[in-house]
Amino acid sequence: MPVIHINLDKRSYSIIVGNKILRDLGNLLSDFNLSSKAVIITNPRVGRLYLKPIKESLLNKGFDVSAIIIPDGEKSKNYRQLIEIYRNLISARLDRRSLIIGLGGGVIGDISGFAAATFMRGIPYVQVPTSLLAQVDSSIGGKTAINLGGIKNIIGSFYQPKLVYTDISSLRTLPREELYNGLAEVIKYGVIKDERFFQYLEKNIEKVLELDTLCLEKIVFRCAQIKAEIVEEDEREEGIRAILNYGHTLGHCFETITKFRYRHGQAISLGMIYISEIAQRLGILEKKDAERQKRLLQRGHLPVSLRKSFNPEEILTILEMDKKRRGGRQRFILPRKIGEVIIKEDIPRELIKEALLS
Ligand SMILES: NC(=O)c1ccc[n+]([C@@H]2O[C@H](COP(=O)([O-])OP(=O)(O)OC[C@H]3O[C@@H](n4cnc5c(N)ncnc54)[C@H](O)[C@@H]3O)[C@@H](O)[C@H]2O)c1
Ligand SMILES: [Zn+2]
Repeated sequence: MPVIHINLDKRSYSIIVGNKILRDLGNLLSDFNLSSKAVIITNPRVGRLYLKPIKESLLNKGFDVSAIIIPDGEKSKNYRQLIEIYRNLISARLDRRSLIIGLGGGVIGDISGFAAATFMRGIPYVQVPTSLLAQVDSSIGGKTAINLGGIKNIIGSFYQPKLVYTDISSLRTLPREELYNGLAEVIKYGVIKDERFFQYLEKNIEKVLELDTLCLEKIVFRCAQIKAEIVEEDEREEGIRAILNYGHTLGHCFETITKFRYRHGQAISLGMIYISEIAQRLGILEKKDAERQKRLLQRGHLPVSLRKSFNPEEILTILEMDKKRRGGRQRFILPRKIGEVIIKEDIPRELIKEALLS
């Protein structure tokens, strides 16, 4: 099975990518010095589909397994749900060597990771990501979080899992919208780091959309590998890890201004389009590269122009609020060509405005 090792001293771990591998998870847990208790955290939708094989695979290895099912969706990533999880962990009598398994998309990964990071000051956890976004992005790198007071991921910690266990066959049950959502991040990796991978996507995007097994395995593996390399270099986002936020600075504004009517991937797609417009105006990026990116996003069913016209001043206000929250620093990730980005701190307000109006 294809494996990626992410080297972070004592916090190192593997990312395994395979097809139809859920039933084998139990076999891999013997390396982690665990006690016999394990708790799987999931939601009703994913649980119905994938809880049984995982549970059975752990039972077969002698684990005492229970499940915590939390409601589906971003609205569950809150402290009430977290407290509920803690209560369940206490009832299940977990100890410090017990295991938490997060089975689901990014929401489940983030909240179960945070629960694992904080319960008894940190117990082992394994991520089993089931959405494309979670497989290529949120399950890797140890960012865990919940939302509070309408602010996304404001409470959280860096806490690495013991293992990321990715079964691409779970993508077969993923709603199409969620597939497109994850594709925005997939395309992002090509633009920030790997022109050959971008070319591969240009050649094979239809196959990806048809859920061709080899293609899915290849793209999930390559994205996970790119993310792992970046996280290895900069675990706590003090420098280079920021390039993963390509398309996200403006993307977050589009999410905010539409009150999250754009899905994350759609907002990121637009963020990539408009930051590329800015990069062209700064003379950093050639038009032909911006066009290549646009075509690929379109083929991935992602939006490339804002649905309705917004007042750019409103977007700039959101940007400025965001900047304040970040202690007066705002980093933009600008593409130089397909496969390479640069980090730039301040971009003139007028230039952003012109680009948004283009
Ligand atoms: N920790 C990080 O580094 C990081 C990075 C990016 C995003 N995130 C977080 O991830 C979250 C978004 O993740 P997401 O897009 O996976 O959303 P999600 O977890 O809400 O999943 C999307 C939907 O797909 C369903 N689903 C997931 N897998 C399925 C499957 N195999 N079959 C059928 N349905 C399935 C879910 O139940 C949900 O309804 C956000 O909260 C975001 O903040 C975290
Ligand atoms: Zn993202």
